[in-house]
Amino acid sequence: MPRKHLITTHPAPANANAVSFTITNTLKLDAQAELDALERGLLAPAASIAPKFFYDALGSTLYNAIVLTPEYYPTRTEAAIFARYRSEIAGYIGPGKQFVDLGSGDSVKAEHWFAALRPSRYVAVDISSAALNDALLRLVGNPDAPELAGLITDFSRVLDVSPVLRPGPTLFFYPGSSIGNFMPDEALWFLKQIRAHCSTPHCGLLIGVDTKKDPARLNAAYDDALGVTAAFNLNVLRHINTLLGTDFDVRDWQHRGFYHPALGRIEMHLEARRATQVRIRGHRRHFAAGERIHTENSYKYAPEEFSAVLREAGFVAPRCWQDDAADFSVFHASTGG
Ligand code: AVI
Repeated sequence: MPRKHLITTHPAPANANAVSFTITNTLKLDAQAELDALERGLLAPAASIAPKFFYDALGSTLYNAIVLTPEYYPTRTEAAIFARYRSEIAGYIGPGKQFVDLGSGDSVKAEHWFAALRPSRYVAVDISSAALNDALLRLVGNPDAPELAGLITDFSRVLDVSPVLRPGPTLFFYPGSSIGNFMPDEALWFLKQIRAHCSTPHCGLLIGVDTKKDPARLNAAYDDALGVTAAFNLNVLRHINTLLGTDFDVRDWQHRGFYHPALGRIEMHLEARRATQVRIRGHRRHFAAGERIHTENSYKYAPEEFSAVLREAGFVAPRCWQDDAADFSVFHASTGG
């Protein structure tokens, strides 16, 4: 049965600048359907696990460690582009917009824009209620913070921010190159859904996108020397053991992360070190030695390729900012007006 939206209003704490916020929850907790899809993926001839299952508590901590490895350049390069071009980008976007942060996490990236963009309202959108709650509670103490709101939802399926969106000029913010984790047709569909939420002129999208580059550097970024990415990938097996009652032995598997130049994407897989049997609900699945479970794609886009995708999604005037080595791109595209 579909859940009604849950709306929780948090009053301003006594020590804050009289800011309160409302969190709306549209997450349909269709846990059974999620587990059924996970089971189907594991039993398919070419087995797969959706990347959203990386992010249990340990997986999220390991991801935070990945971004600190010397090999994983995207996060720090995006931060450097934002820092270097912040006032230029902000001048281009203009002040006073509603700022919708898709996949807001701890909201730190968005917070860095408050002083420059002076948004009228900040809407954090995330699947994790704990992360969203903590982030908004922290922002209450920021004197640059505008009116705050939150939406708990899983936009990897459908993006619907209408329960929290107000009409008027809006900036959507999707940093971190997470767009690369969608298949290209899904990425286009996702961007079209953002565009469809832009009902008035002067709306736009600020998005971070990783670029195509030397395969050796891409390979290193997704197979770092310390093995942090390997641990992140392998941890998904522990997570699904907890969720599904499977009996994966992490020691039977190894991480594979490599760039596929013809497809323009990183692929991550878990590869069986030896022949192994795994109990998956009522089934026993045999994996031959060397057989793989596909866990993630991370597509890389040349600037002109991604500009074309933005235009196809209905945005106009895409602008791109890059670091000197062209390792990463930040785009702004608008709805005109
Ligand atoms: C979350 N996403 C943008 C990361 C990426 O680079 O595709 C996930 C990741 N997987 C391994 N390392 C990082």
